[in-house]
Amino acid sequence: MNGEELRAIRERRGEDQLSFATWLNGALNRRYDRSRISRWESGAERIPQQVAGFLAGQGGMAAVPQTAGGLAAGPKLRRAVVAVANQKGGVGKTTTAVNLSYALSTLGLKVMLLDSDPQGNATVHMGLDPGEIETHRKGLYNVVRGGASFDSILQPVCGGMVMLAPSSIGLAAAETELVAEPDNSLVLKEKLAEVRNRYDVIVIDCPPNLGLLTINALAASDLVLIPVQTEVFAGLGVPLLLETIAKIRRRSNPSLNIFGILPTMFSSRLTQDQASLREIQEHYEGRTRVLPAVPRATLFAQASGAGRPAIEADPNSNSVQAYGELARELAAHLQTAETAHVS
Ligand SMILES: Nc1ncnc2c1ncn2[C@@H]1O[C@H](COP(=O)(O)OP(=O)(O)OP(=O)(O)O)[C@@H](O)[C@H]1O
Ligand SMILES: [Mg+2]
Repeated sequence: MNGEELRAIRERRGEDQLSFATWLNGALNRRYDRSRISRWESGAERIPQQVAGFLAGQGGMAAVPQTAGGLAAGPKLRRAVVAVANQKGGVGKTTTAVNLSYALSTLGLKVMLLDSDPQGNATVHMGLDPGEIETHRKGLYNVVRGGASFDSILQPVCGGMVMLAPSSIGLAAAETELVAEPDNSLVLKEKLAEVRNRYDVIVIDCPPNLGLLTINALAASDLVLIPVQTEVFAGLGVPLLLETIAKIRRRSNPSLNIFGILPTMFSSRLTQDQASLREIQEHYEGRTRVLPAVPRATLFAQASGAGRPAIEADPNSNSVQAYGELARELAAHLQTAETAHVS
C-alpha cells in the first residue's frame, strides 16, 4: 500500500488525519499521531506492515481492492440504515447485527450499531452491561422517550471500531408508551436524523416481534436483512415480515428495500439443513437475494459470552467468513447504488 491509497481510504471515511489516527489506534492499540499519518500519506515514511495489513488484509476492502466484487476506493458510498429483522426468535439477528457491524468497520466504513431490543442482547454481545445503561439512563429508551440525544448515549466498542447505541430492559416500556404518540412509527427515524450523516452504515438489531420498535426500525431503514435459521421451511415466518415491509413501504417509507435473506446456523453435514437451504434458495430465486449461509459454529456463542463479535475474536476462522462476505457484498451494493444514483 502506498500513501495515496492510504489517503483515499481516509478520505472515504470522511476523516481528517487526527481522527483517522484515533481510529487506527483504537483498532491496533497503537499511538500514532496526526503527523505520522501525514508522513505516510506524503511517502516520507514507510507505512508499517501492521497498518497496511490491517487496512488491506483484514476484510481487505478498506484498501484499494484488486479483487472482483471489491470496494473500489474511488466512487462514494451511499449511506444506509440497515435493519436486521425477523419476528421469529433465536434466528441469529443479534449475532448477524454484531458481526456485520464489525466486519463493515474493518472495510474502513464508519459504523453505528443500534440495539433496538429491550433484551439488550447486542449490548451484552458488545461487552456492555445493560444494568449500567439502565441505571445511568444512557440507553435507546432515553433517546426515543426521554429527549436525550444519540450523542449522549453512544459508546465506542470493539476498540473504537464501532459506535454502539445500547439498550436495556427499560426500552420495553417504549412499546406501550409510543402508542399514544402521533406518527408513532416515525419516532426513531426523526431521532436518527441527528446522526445519520455521520455514519456510512447504521445497523439496527430488531426485537423478535413486529411491535412498534420493529416498525420504527423498518420505517427508519433503507435496507432490511432477514436472517432465517436453516430449518424446516414451513417454520420460517418470513411471509408475515414481507407483508409488514410492503405495508411500511406503501405508507411511510417507499425507499425501503430488502437486501436479502441470510440463512444462519447451517450445518452442511445435515441432510435436513441442505434440503432447507435448497428450498429457501428455490423459493426466493429471482425475487430476493439469498446470501451465502452462515455455518453453525460454537464460536458464535463463545464470542458472545466473551462480549465481542466472533469475527473480531477469530477473524481467520472459516465459520465467520460468511459475515466478511456479507459486509463486502453490502458495501459493494452501497457503492453501486451511489454510482447508479449519480449517473
Ligand atoms: N451461526 C451460528 N452457529 C451457532 N450458534 C449460533 C449462530 N448464530 C447464532 N447462534 C446462537 O444462537 C442463539 C440465538 O442467536 P441470536 O441471539 O443472534 O438470535 P436472535 O434472532 O437475535 O434472537 P432473539 O430473537 O432472541 O433476539 C445465540 O445463543 C447465538 O449465540
Ligand atoms: Mg436478538
